[in-house]
Amino acid sequence: MSALIPRPRAVRTSPGSFEFTRREPVSGPADLTDAVRLALPALDLTGRAVGAPEPRITVERDKDLGPESYALTVTPEAVQIRAGDATGALYAGQTLRQLLPPDAYRSSALPGVRWSVPCVSVEDGPRFSWRGAHLDVSRHFLPKREVLRMIDLLAVHKLNRLHLHLADDQGWRVESRAYPLLHEVGSHRAQTTTRPFRGQEPAFDGTPHGGYYTLADLSEIAEYARARAVTIVPEIDVPGHASAILAAYPHLGAAPARRYDVLDRWGISPAILSPLPATIDFLSAVFGEIIDALGAVPYFHIGGDECVLDDWAASGEIEAYRRSLGLGSVGDLHAWFLRRLADILAERGSRAVVWDEAFVSGMLRDDTIVMPWRGAQVGRRAAEAGHDIVATPVFPLYFDYAEAGSAEEPAAIGDAITVEDVAAFEPAPSSWEPEVAGRVLGAQFQLWTERIPDARTLDYRAWPRGCAVAQVTWSGGADGFAEALPAHLTRLDAYGVEYRPPAGPRPWQRGGTGDRRHRPGAVEVGEVMRRLDALTHEADSTRPSI
Ligand code: ACM
Repeated sequence: MSALIPRPRAVRTSPGSFEFTRREPVSGPADLTDAVRLALPALDLTGRAVGAPEPRITVERDKDLGPESYALTVTPEAVQIRAGDATGALYAGQTLRQLLPPDAYRSSALPGVRWSVPCVSVEDGPRFSWRGAHLDVSRHFLPKREVLRMIDLLAVHKLNRLHLHLADDQGWRVESRAYPLLHEVGSHRAQTTTRPFRGQEPAFDGTPHGGYYTLADLSEIAEYARARAVTIVPEIDVPGHASAILAAYPHLGAAPARRYDVLDRWGISPAILSPLPATIDFLSAVFGEIIDALGAVPYFHIGGDECVLDDWAASGEIEAYRRSLGLGSVGDLHAWFLRRLADILAERGSRAVVWDEAFVSGMLRDDTIVMPWRGAQVGRRAAEAGHDIVATPVFPLYFDYAEAGSAEEPAAIGDAITVEDVAAFEPAPSSWEPEVAGRVLGAQFQLWTERIPDARTLDYRAWPRGCAVAQVTWSGGADGFAEALPAHLTRLDAYGVEYRPPAGPRPWQRGGTGDRRHRPGAVEVGEVMRRLDALTHEADSTRPSI
Protein backbone atom coordinates (compact mmCIF):
# COMPACT_ATOMS: atom_id res chain seq x y z
CA MET A 1 0.00 0.00 0.00
CA SER A 2 0.94 3.58 -0.56
CA ALA A 3 4.16 2.65 -2.34
CA LEU A 4 6.59 4.06 0.20
CA ILE A 5 10.28 4.37 -0.78
CA PRO A 6 12.29 3.65 1.27
CA ARG A 7 10.03 1.03 2.86
CA PRO A 8 9.32 1.85 6.53
CA ARG A 9 10.07 -0.68 9.25
CA ALA A 10 6.38 -1.21 10.03
CA VAL A 11 3.19 0.07 8.40
CA ARG A 12 -0.39 -0.71 9.43
CA THR A 13 -3.29 0.69 7.44
CA SER A 14 -6.84 1.25 8.59
CA PRO A 15 -9.98 2.48 6.85
CA GLY A 16 -10.60 6.16 6.22
CA SER A 17 -8.47 9.16 5.49
CA PHE A 18 -7.40 12.53 6.85
CA GLU A 19 -7.93 15.67 4.75
CA PHE A 20 -5.42 18.48 5.14
CA THR A 21 -6.50 22.02 4.54
CA ARG A 22 -3.81 24.35 3.31
CA ARG A 23 -2.15 26.68 5.85
CA GLU A 24 -3.18 24.39 8.68
CA PRO A 25 -1.34 24.86 12.00
CA VAL A 26 1.03 22.29 13.53
CA SER A 27 1.80 22.19 17.24
CA GLY A 28 4.92 20.96 18.98
CA PRO A 29 8.50 22.02 19.73
CA ALA A 30 9.68 24.54 17.12
CA ASP A 31 12.63 22.47 15.81
CA LEU A 32 10.30 19.54 15.15
CA THR A 33 7.41 21.49 13.62
CA ASP A 34 9.84 23.43 11.39
CA ALA A 35 11.20 20.11 10.10
CA VAL A 36 7.71 18.75 9.32
CA ARG A 37 6.74 21.98 7.54
CA LEU A 38 9.93 21.91 5.46
CA ALA A 39 9.04 18.44 4.18
CA LEU A 40 5.57 19.53 3.05
CA PRO A 41 6.00 22.77 1.08
CA ALA A 42 2.79 22.35 -0.94
CA LEU A 43 0.65 22.32 2.23
CA ASP A 44 2.10 25.58 3.49
CA LEU A 45 1.62 24.48 7.11
CA THR A 46 1.78 27.23 9.73
CA GLY A 47 2.68 27.60 13.39
CA ARG A 48 0.03 27.50 16.10
CA ALA A 49 -1.49 30.91 16.79
CA VAL A 50 -1.70 31.99 20.45
CA GLY A 51 -5.11 31.14 21.90
CA ALA A 52 -6.12 29.04 18.89
CA PRO A 53 -7.66 25.59 19.51
CA GLU A 54 -5.35 22.56 19.66
CA PRO A 55 -4.29 21.81 16.04
CA ARG A 56 -5.18 18.52 14.41
CA ILE A 57 -1.51 18.01 13.49
CA THR A 58 0.87 17.48 16.42
CA VAL A 59 4.53 16.64 16.78
CA GLU A 60 6.13 15.42 20.01
CA ARG A 61 9.66 14.59 21.00
CA ASP A 62 10.14 10.96 22.07
CA LYS A 63 13.68 10.21 23.17
CA ASP A 64 12.95 6.47 23.26
CA LEU A 65 12.74 6.46 19.48
CA GLY A 66 16.43 7.18 18.84
CA PRO A 67 18.10 9.30 16.18
CA GLU A 68 16.36 9.82 12.83
CA SER A 69 13.40 7.70 13.91
CA TYR A 70 9.71 8.52 14.08
CA ALA A 71 6.23 7.16 14.60
CA LEU A 72 3.34 8.53 12.56
CA THR A 73 -0.34 7.93 13.21
CA VAL A 74 -3.01 9.19 10.84
CA THR A 75 -6.70 8.93 11.79
CA PRO A 76 -9.65 10.76 10.20
CA GLU A 77 -9.37 13.35 12.98
CA ALA A 78 -5.64 13.81 13.55
CA VAL A 79 -2.06 13.43 12.38
CA GLN A 80 0.26 12.59 15.28
CA ILE A 81 4.01 12.44 14.94
CA ARG A 82 6.51 11.32 17.56
CA ALA A 83 10.13 11.85 16.67
CA GLY A 84 13.46 11.04 18.29
CA ASP A 85 14.92 14.29 16.97
CA ALA A 86 14.35 16.96 14.31
CA THR A 87 15.59 14.56 11.62
CA GLY A 88 12.96 12.02 12.68
CA ALA A 89 10.33 14.76 12.37
CA LEU A 90 11.63 15.69 8.91
CA TYR A 91 11.39 12.06 7.84
CA ALA A 92 7.87 11.70 9.26
CA GLY A 93 7.05 14.71 7.06
CA GLN A 94 8.67 13.01 4.06
CA THR A 95 6.57 9.90 4.65
CA LEU A 96 3.43 12.04 4.87
CA ARG A 97 4.45 13.68 1.59
CA GLN A 98 4.57 10.24 -0.04
CA LEU A 99 1.14 9.42 1.40
CA LEU A 100 -0.31 12.58 -0.19
CA PRO A 101 -1.10 12.81 -3.93
CA PRO A 102 2.00 13.23 -6.17
CA ASP A 103 1.15 16.93 -6.53
CA ALA A 104 2.71 17.30 -3.06
CA TYR A 105 6.04 17.21 -4.99
CA ARG A 106 5.27 20.38 -6.95
CA SER A 107 6.79 23.62 -5.76
CA SER A 108 3.39 25.20 -5.26
CA ALA A 109 -0.06 23.81 -4.66
CA LEU A 110 -2.32 23.27 -7.67
CA PRO A 111 -5.93 24.37 -7.25
CA GLY A 112 -8.49 21.65 -6.68
CA VAL A 113 -6.16 18.97 -5.24
CA ARG A 114 -7.62 17.04 -2.31
CA TRP A 115 -4.78 16.77 0.22
CA SER A 116 -5.94 13.43 1.49
CA VAL A 117 -3.82 10.89 3.40
CA PRO A 118 -4.98 7.32 4.12
CA CYS A 119 -5.27 6.33 7.76
CA VAL A 120 -2.10 4.60 8.72
CA SER A 121 0.29 3.89 11.54
CA VAL A 122 4.01 3.90 10.69
CA GLU A 123 7.01 3.09 12.88
CA ASP A 124 10.27 3.78 11.22
CA GLY A 125 14.00 4.25 11.59
CA PRO A 126 17.12 3.67 9.52
CA ARG A 127 19.11 0.48 9.14
CA PHE A 128 22.35 2.36 8.37
CA SER A 129 23.60 5.74 9.53
CA TRP A 130 25.44 6.57 6.25
CA ARG A 131 23.04 6.79 3.33
CA GLY A 132 24.73 8.80 0.70
CA ALA A 133 25.44 10.17 -2.71
CA HIS A 134 28.78 11.20 -4.13
CA LEU A 135 28.83 13.96 -6.71
CA ASP A 136 31.90 14.68 -8.83
CA VAL A 137 31.70 18.43 -9.50
CA SER A 138 35.27 18.49 -10.84
CA ARG A 139 34.98 16.67 -14.17
CA HIS A 140 31.84 18.68 -14.89
CA PHE A 141 30.97 21.56 -12.65
CA LEU A 142 27.41 21.71 -11.36
CA PRO A 143 26.22 25.14 -10.33
CA LYS A 144 25.15 25.74 -6.76
CA ARG A 145 21.44 25.52 -7.63
CA GLU A 146 21.93 21.92 -8.79
CA VAL A 147 23.72 21.02 -5.56
CA LEU A 148 20.82 22.47 -3.56
CA ARG A 149 18.35 20.53 -5.71
CA MET A 150 20.34 17.33 -5.14
CA ILE A 151 20.15 17.95 -1.38
CA ASP A 152 16.35 18.28 -1.67
CA LEU A 153 16.13 15.03 -3.60
CA LEU A 154 18.34 13.22 -1.09
CA ALA A 155 16.10 14.40 1.76
CA VAL A 156 13.00 13.21 -0.13
CA HIS A 157 14.58 9.73 -0.06
CA LYS A 158 15.85 9.91 3.56
CA LEU A 159 19.41 9.93 2.25
CA ASN A 160 21.72 11.89 4.51
CA ARG A 161 25.24 12.34 3.09
CA LEU A 162 26.36 14.40 0.11
CA HIS A 163 30.00 13.68 -0.69
CA LEU A 164 31.26 16.51 -2.93
CA HIS A 165 34.33 15.60 -5.00
CA LEU A 166 35.71 19.15 -5.16
CA ALA A 167 39.13 18.66 -6.71
CA ASP A 168 40.54 16.52 -9.49
CA ASP A 169 42.76 16.82 -12.55
CA GLN A 170 39.97 18.48 -14.54
CA GLY A 171 39.07 21.26 -12.11
CA TRP A 172 39.38 22.76 -8.64
CA ARG A 173 35.97 23.89 -7.39
CA VAL A 174 36.33 26.05 -4.26
CA GLU A 175 37.36 29.62 -3.65
CA SER A 176 40.56 29.97 -1.61
CA ARG A 177 41.56 33.24 -0.03
CA ALA A 178 44.90 31.80 1.10
CA TYR A 179 45.74 30.41 -2.36
CA PRO A 180 43.59 32.36 -4.85
CA LEU A 181 45.20 30.88 -7.97
CA LEU A 182 43.37 27.67 -7.06
CA HIS A 183 40.07 29.17 -8.17
CA GLU A 184 41.47 31.74 -10.58
CA VAL A 185 43.53 29.23 -12.57
CA GLY A 186 42.52 25.76 -11.36
CA SER A 187 38.75 26.12 -11.81
CA HIS A 188 38.55 26.06 -15.61
CA ARG A 189 39.91 24.27 -18.65
CA ALA A 190 40.14 25.37 -22.26
CA GLN A 191 38.17 22.48 -23.73
CA THR A 192 36.90 18.96 -23.09
CA THR A 193 37.39 15.69 -24.92
CA THR A 194 34.43 14.53 -26.98
CA ARG A 195 35.88 11.09 -27.84
CA PRO A 196 36.66 9.40 -24.56
CA PHE A 197 36.49 5.78 -25.70
CA ARG A 198 39.63 3.73 -26.20
CA GLY A 199 40.66 3.48 -29.83
CA GLN A 200 38.86 6.66 -30.91
CA GLU A 201 40.66 9.49 -32.70
CA PRO A 202 41.08 12.26 -30.09
CA ALA A 203 38.70 15.20 -30.55
CA PHE A 204 37.82 18.18 -28.36
CA ASP A 205 34.86 20.51 -28.16
CA GLY A 206 36.92 23.72 -28.17
CA THR A 207 34.64 25.12 -25.45
CA PRO A 208 35.92 26.35 -22.07
CA HIS A 209 34.42 24.67 -19.04
CA GLY A 210 34.64 25.65 -15.40
CA GLY A 211 33.18 27.13 -12.25
CA TYR A 212 33.69 27.09 -8.52
CA TYR A 213 31.81 27.63 -5.27
CA THR A 214 32.71 30.68 -3.25
CA LEU A 215 33.30 30.11 0.45
CA ALA A 216 29.95 31.86 1.02
CA ASP A 217 28.33 29.38 -1.41
CA LEU A 218 29.79 26.51 0.64
CA SER A 219 28.37 28.02 3.83
CA GLU A 220 24.97 28.34 2.16
CA ILE A 221 25.08 24.76 0.84
CA ALA A 222 26.02 23.43 4.29
CA GLU A 223 23.25 25.37 6.02
CA TYR A 224 20.67 24.28 3.44
CA ALA A 225 21.85 20.69 3.84
CA ARG A 226 21.77 20.79 7.65
CA ALA A 227 18.12 21.88 7.63
CA ARG A 228 17.40 18.81 5.50
CA ALA A 229 19.46 16.41 7.65
CA VAL A 230 22.14 16.05 4.98
CA THR A 231 25.81 16.19 5.99
CA ILE A 232 28.19 17.59 3.39
CA VAL A 233 31.35 15.48 3.08
CA PRO A 234 33.94 17.56 1.18
CA GLU A 235 36.65 15.76 -0.75
CA ILE A 236 40.00 17.17 -1.78
CA ASP A 237 41.54 14.20 -3.58
CA VAL A 238 45.31 14.06 -2.93
CA PRO A 239 48.16 13.42 -3.49
CA GLY A 240 47.27 12.21 -7.03
CA HIS A 241 44.56 13.66 -9.29
CA ALA A 242 46.43 16.94 -8.78
CA SER A 243 46.68 18.62 -12.22
CA ALA A 244 44.32 21.49 -11.36
CA ILE A 245 46.21 22.30 -8.13
CA LEU A 246 49.52 22.07 -9.97
CA ALA A 247 48.32 24.26 -12.86
CA ALA A 248 47.87 26.93 -10.17
CA TYR A 249 50.88 26.15 -7.94
CA PRO A 250 53.43 24.01 -9.81
CA HIS A 251 55.99 24.35 -7.04
CA LEU A 252 53.82 21.97 -4.95
CA GLY A 253 54.51 19.20 -7.45
CA ALA A 254 56.98 16.39 -7.05
CA ALA A 255 58.77 17.70 -10.16
CA PRO A 256 58.68 21.46 -9.45
CA ALA A 257 60.15 22.53 -12.78
CA ARG A 258 57.29 20.91 -14.68
CA ARG A 259 54.29 22.97 -15.88
CA TYR A 260 50.75 21.62 -15.81
CA ASP A 261 47.37 22.39 -17.37
CA VAL A 262 43.92 21.71 -15.99
CA LEU A 263 43.27 18.49 -17.91
CA ASP A 264 40.89 18.41 -20.87
CA ARG A 265 40.66 14.60 -21.05
CA TRP A 266 39.88 11.70 -18.71
CA GLY A 267 41.96 8.84 -17.34
CA ILE A 268 44.68 8.57 -14.72
CA SER A 269 47.26 11.35 -14.76
CA PRO A 270 50.75 11.10 -13.28
CA ALA A 271 50.43 14.62 -11.78
CA ILE A 272 51.11 14.28 -8.06
CA LEU A 273 51.68 16.65 -5.18
CA SER A 274 55.00 16.46 -3.36
CA PRO A 275 54.71 15.01 0.17
CA LEU A 276 57.13 17.60 1.58
CA PRO A 277 56.18 19.91 4.47
CA ALA A 278 55.24 22.83 2.14
CA THR A 279 52.43 20.69 0.68
CA ILE A 280 51.20 19.68 4.11
CA ASP A 281 51.12 23.36 5.13
CA PHE A 282 49.25 24.25 1.95
CA LEU A 283 46.63 21.53 2.44
CA SER A 284 46.25 22.33 6.10
CA ALA A 285 45.40 25.95 5.20
CA VAL A 286 42.99 24.98 2.43
CA PHE A 287 41.25 22.31 4.54
CA GLY A 288 40.87 24.95 7.26
CA GLU A 289 39.17 27.35 4.84
CA ILE A 290 36.72 24.64 3.74
CA ILE A 291 35.99 23.56 7.33
CA ASP A 292 35.41 27.17 8.40
CA ALA A 293 33.05 27.73 5.46
CA LEU A 294 31.05 24.54 6.02
CA GLY A 295 30.72 25.15 9.74
CA ALA A 296 31.00 21.68 11.18
CA VAL A 297 32.69 18.96 9.14
CA PRO A 298 32.42 15.59 10.87
CA TYR A 299 33.91 13.82 7.82
CA PHE A 300 36.55 15.13 5.39
CA HIS A 301 37.58 12.95 2.43
CA ILE A 302 41.22 13.14 1.35
CA GLY A 303 41.14 10.74 -1.59
CA GLY A 304 44.33 8.68 -1.77
CA ASP A 305 43.27 6.75 -4.90
CA GLU A 306 45.02 6.07 -8.19
CA CYS A 307 48.38 7.61 -7.34
CA VAL A 308 51.30 7.31 -9.74
CA LEU A 309 54.34 7.58 -7.45
CA ASP A 310 57.02 7.68 -10.17
CA ASP A 311 57.82 11.37 -9.59
CA TRP A 312 58.32 10.71 -5.87
CA ALA A 313 60.75 7.87 -6.58
CA ALA A 314 62.62 10.05 -9.13
CA SER A 315 63.08 13.03 -6.79
CA GLY A 316 66.30 13.09 -4.73
CA GLU A 317 64.72 15.54 -2.28
CA ILE A 318 61.63 13.37 -1.72
CA GLU A 319 63.72 10.22 -1.42
CA ALA A 320 65.93 11.90 1.19
CA TYR A 321 62.81 13.03 3.07
CA ARG A 322 61.39 9.50 2.97
CA ARG A 323 64.62 8.09 4.42
CA SER A 324 64.67 10.79 7.11
CA LEU A 325 61.23 9.53 8.20
CA GLY A 326 62.51 5.96 8.36
CA LEU A 327 60.06 4.81 5.66
CA GLY A 328 60.98 1.86 3.47
CA SER A 329 59.22 2.69 0.18
CA VAL A 330 57.31 5.41 -1.69
CA GLY A 331 54.20 3.33 -0.95
CA ASP A 332 54.88 3.81 2.77
CA LEU A 333 55.40 7.51 2.14
CA HIS A 334 51.97 7.66 0.45
CA ALA A 335 50.44 6.07 3.55
CA TRP A 336 52.39 8.36 5.88
CA PHE A 337 51.29 11.46 3.94
CA LEU A 338 47.59 10.58 4.23
CA ARG A 339 47.97 9.77 7.91
CA ARG A 340 49.60 13.14 8.51
CA LEU A 341 46.63 14.87 6.84
CA ALA A 342 44.20 12.78 8.89
CA ASP A 343 45.99 13.90 12.08
CA ILE A 344 45.63 17.54 11.02
CA LEU A 345 41.94 17.02 10.32
CA ALA A 346 41.48 15.33 13.70
CA GLU A 347 42.80 18.48 15.37
CA ARG A 348 40.00 20.34 13.56
CA GLY A 349 37.37 17.84 14.73
CA SER A 350 37.03 16.00 11.38
CA ARG A 351 37.39 12.29 10.73
CA ALA A 352 39.31 11.48 7.57
CA VAL A 353 37.69 9.39 4.85
CA VAL A 354 39.79 7.68 2.14
CA TRP A 355 39.38 5.47 -0.93
CA ASP A 356 40.56 1.92 -0.31
CA GLU A 357 44.09 2.29 -1.78
CA ALA A 358 44.98 4.25 1.34
CA PHE A 359 43.95 1.28 3.49
CA VAL A 360 45.88 -1.22 1.40
CA SER A 361 49.06 0.86 1.71
CA GLY A 362 48.64 0.78 5.52
CA MET A 363 49.24 3.22 8.43
CA LEU A 364 45.78 4.77 8.66
CA ARG A 365 44.58 6.23 11.92
CA ASP A 366 42.13 3.83 13.55
CA ASP A 367 39.28 6.31 13.19
CA THR A 368 39.75 6.80 9.42
CA ILE A 369 36.74 5.68 7.39
CA VAL A 370 37.48 3.59 4.30
CA MET A 371 35.47 3.61 1.07
CA PRO A 372 36.13 0.28 -0.65
CA TRP A 373 35.37 1.16 -4.26
CA ARG A 374 37.27 -1.83 -5.65
CA GLY A 375 34.91 -4.37 -4.12
CA ALA A 376 33.55 -6.11 -1.05
CA GLN A 377 36.68 -8.14 -0.31
CA VAL A 378 38.88 -5.12 0.31
CA GLY A 379 36.01 -3.63 2.31
CA ARG A 380 35.88 -6.69 4.48
CA ARG A 381 39.63 -6.55 5.08
CA ALA A 382 39.39 -2.89 6.11
CA ALA A 383 36.51 -3.69 8.47
CA GLU A 384 38.43 -6.66 9.93
CA ALA A 385 41.33 -4.30 10.55
CA GLY A 386 38.96 -2.20 12.67
CA HIS A 387 38.00 0.58 10.25
CA ASP A 388 34.49 1.79 9.75
CA ILE A 389 33.62 1.45 6.08
CA VAL A 390 31.06 2.91 3.69
CA ALA A 391 30.27 0.54 0.82
CA THR A 392 31.04 2.20 -2.52
CA PRO A 393 31.77 -0.69 -4.92
CA VAL A 394 31.88 0.04 -8.65
CA PHE A 395 29.23 -2.67 -9.04
CA PRO A 396 26.49 -1.73 -8.34
CA LEU A 397 27.11 1.79 -7.00
CA TYR A 398 29.00 3.59 -9.79
CA PHE A 399 26.13 5.32 -11.55
CA ASP A 400 28.33 6.51 -14.41
CA TYR A 401 27.72 2.99 -15.81
CA ALA A 402 24.72 2.67 -18.13
CA GLU A 403 21.58 0.90 -16.99
CA ALA A 404 21.60 -1.21 -20.15
CA GLY A 405 24.20 -2.37 -22.65
CA SER A 406 22.30 -0.69 -25.46
CA ALA A 407 23.27 1.71 -28.24
CA GLU A 408 20.19 3.74 -27.26
CA GLU A 409 21.79 4.83 -23.98
CA PRO A 410 23.66 8.10 -23.73
CA ALA A 411 27.44 7.52 -23.52
CA ALA A 412 28.43 5.90 -20.24
CA ILE A 413 31.77 4.61 -19.02
CA GLY A 414 30.56 1.03 -19.44
CA ASP A 415 27.59 -1.21 -18.74
CA ALA A 416 25.43 -2.38 -17.13
CA ILE A 417 24.12 -1.54 -13.64
CA THR A 418 20.35 -1.83 -13.41
CA VAL A 419 18.00 -0.53 -10.77
CA GLU A 420 17.36 -4.17 -9.81
CA ASP A 421 21.11 -4.70 -9.31
CA VAL A 422 21.14 -1.78 -6.90
CA ALA A 423 18.02 -2.90 -5.02
CA ALA A 424 19.59 -6.35 -4.53
CA PHE A 425 22.80 -4.92 -3.04
CA GLU A 426 23.69 -5.82 0.54
CA PRO A 427 26.19 -3.39 2.14
CA ALA A 428 26.93 -5.75 5.07
CA PRO A 429 26.74 -9.33 3.75
CA SER A 430 25.26 -11.87 6.17
CA SER A 431 28.30 -14.11 5.59
CA TRP A 432 30.48 -11.54 7.42
CA GLU A 433 31.07 -12.01 11.15
CA PRO A 434 28.70 -9.71 13.10
CA GLU A 435 31.60 -7.65 14.45
CA VAL A 436 32.93 -7.05 10.93
CA ALA A 437 29.48 -6.37 9.46
CA GLY A 438 28.93 -3.94 12.34
CA ARG A 439 31.74 -1.79 10.90
CA VAL A 440 29.63 -1.01 7.83
CA LEU A 441 28.26 2.49 8.35
CA GLY A 442 26.21 2.26 5.17
CA ALA A 443 26.60 2.85 1.46
CA GLN A 444 26.53 5.58 -1.15
CA PHE A 445 26.18 5.85 -4.92
CA GLN A 446 28.87 7.54 -6.99
CA LEU A 447 28.12 10.04 -9.74
CA TRP A 448 31.43 10.46 -11.53
CA THR A 449 30.79 13.07 -14.18
CA GLU A 450 33.22 12.49 -17.05
CA ARG A 451 30.19 11.46 -19.10
CA ILE A 452 27.61 13.49 -17.16
CA PRO A 453 28.01 16.91 -18.78
CA ASP A 454 24.92 18.57 -17.34
CA ALA A 455 22.15 18.41 -14.76
CA ARG A 456 19.70 16.69 -17.12
CA THR A 457 22.07 13.78 -17.63
CA LEU A 458 22.70 13.76 -13.89
CA ASP A 459 18.96 13.19 -13.26
CA TYR A 460 18.98 10.38 -15.81
CA ARG A 461 21.90 8.59 -14.18
CA ALA A 462 20.92 9.23 -10.54
CA TRP A 463 17.25 8.22 -10.55
CA PRO A 464 15.65 5.80 -9.99
CA ARG A 465 18.85 3.92 -9.06
CA GLY A 466 19.27 6.41 -6.19
CA CYS A 467 15.80 5.40 -4.95
CA ALA A 468 17.10 1.83 -4.69
CA VAL A 469 20.07 3.02 -2.62
CA ALA A 470 17.59 4.70 -0.28
CA GLN A 471 15.75 1.42 0.12
CA VAL A 472 18.93 -0.60 0.66
CA THR A 473 20.43 1.77 3.23
CA TRP A 474 17.27 2.78 5.08
CA SER A 475 15.16 -0.38 4.98
CA GLY A 476 17.55 -3.14 3.89
CA GLY A 477 16.37 -5.62 1.26
CA ALA A 478 14.46 -5.15 -1.96
CA ASP A 479 11.08 -6.22 -0.52
CA GLY A 480 8.31 -4.14 -2.02
CA PHE A 481 10.68 -1.89 -3.96
CA ALA A 482 9.74 -2.98 -7.50
CA GLU A 483 6.04 -2.75 -6.63
CA ALA A 484 6.44 0.72 -5.11
CA LEU A 485 8.58 2.20 -7.86
CA PRO A 486 5.90 3.01 -10.51
CA ALA A 487 3.94 5.18 -8.04
CA HIS A 488 7.15 6.74 -6.78
CA LEU A 489 8.08 7.74 -10.32
CA THR A 490 4.88 9.81 -10.53
CA ARG A 491 6.21 11.78 -7.54
CA LEU A 492 9.50 12.35 -9.35
CA ASP A 493 7.51 13.44 -12.43
CA ALA A 494 5.68 16.03 -10.33
CA TYR A 495 8.99 17.16 -8.86
CA GLY A 496 10.45 17.59 -12.37
CA VAL A 497 13.11 14.89 -12.21
CA GLU A 498 14.23 13.64 -15.63
CA TYR A 499 14.94 10.12 -14.44
CA ARG A 500 15.61 7.12 -16.69
CA PRO A 501 12.25 5.44 -17.40
CA PRO A 502 12.31 1.69 -16.63
CA ALA A 503 11.59 0.89 -20.28
CA GLY A 504 14.59 2.86 -21.52
CA PRO A 505 15.45 6.42 -22.51
CA ARG A 506 12.89 8.82 -23.93
CA PRO A 507 13.74 9.82 -27.53
CA TRP A 508 15.54 12.97 -26.41
CA GLN A 509 17.46 11.10 -23.72
CA ARG A 510 19.14 8.74 -26.20
CA GLY A 511 22.79 8.95 -27.11
CA GLY A 512 21.99 9.40 -30.83
CA THR A 513 24.56 8.80 -33.53
CA GLY A 514 27.15 11.44 -32.64
CA ASP A 515 29.82 11.71 -29.99
CA ARG A 516 27.31 11.03 -27.19
CA ARG A 517 26.56 7.58 -28.57
CA HIS A 518 27.15 4.78 -26.08
CA ARG A 519 29.47 1.87 -27.00
CA PRO A 520 27.62 -1.15 -25.58
CA GLY A 521 29.89 -3.93 -24.38
CA ALA A 522 33.13 -1.92 -24.72
CA VAL A 523 33.60 -1.95 -20.92
CA GLU A 524 31.74 -4.62 -18.97
CA VAL A 525 31.30 -3.88 -15.28
CA GLY A 526 31.79 -7.49 -14.09
CA GLU A 527 35.16 -7.65 -15.84
CA VAL A 528 36.16 -4.29 -14.32
CA MET A 529 35.31 -5.61 -10.84
CA ARG A 530 37.41 -8.73 -11.37
CA ARG A 531 40.42 -6.63 -12.41
CA LEU A 532 39.98 -4.21 -9.52
CA ASP A 533 39.62 -6.96 -6.94
CA ALA A 534 42.89 -8.53 -8.16
CA LEU A 535 44.66 -5.19 -7.75
CA THR A 536 43.69 -4.91 -4.10
CA HIS A 537 45.86 -7.96 -3.40
CA GLU A 538 48.99 -6.57 -5.01
CA ALA A 539 51.79 -5.36 -2.78
CA ASP A 540 52.09 -2.00 -4.51
CA SER A 541 48.54 -0.79 -4.14
CA THR A 542 49.42 2.71 -5.27
CA ARG A 543 49.70 1.63 -8.89
CA PRO A 544 46.85 3.23 -10.77
CA SER A 545 44.15 0.73 -10.99
CA ILE A 546 41.94 1.34 -13.97
C1 ACM B 1 37.90 5.94 -7.76
O1 ACM B 1 37.02 5.50 -8.51
N1 ACM B 1 39.11 6.22 -8.24
C2 ACM B 1 37.66 6.15 -6.35
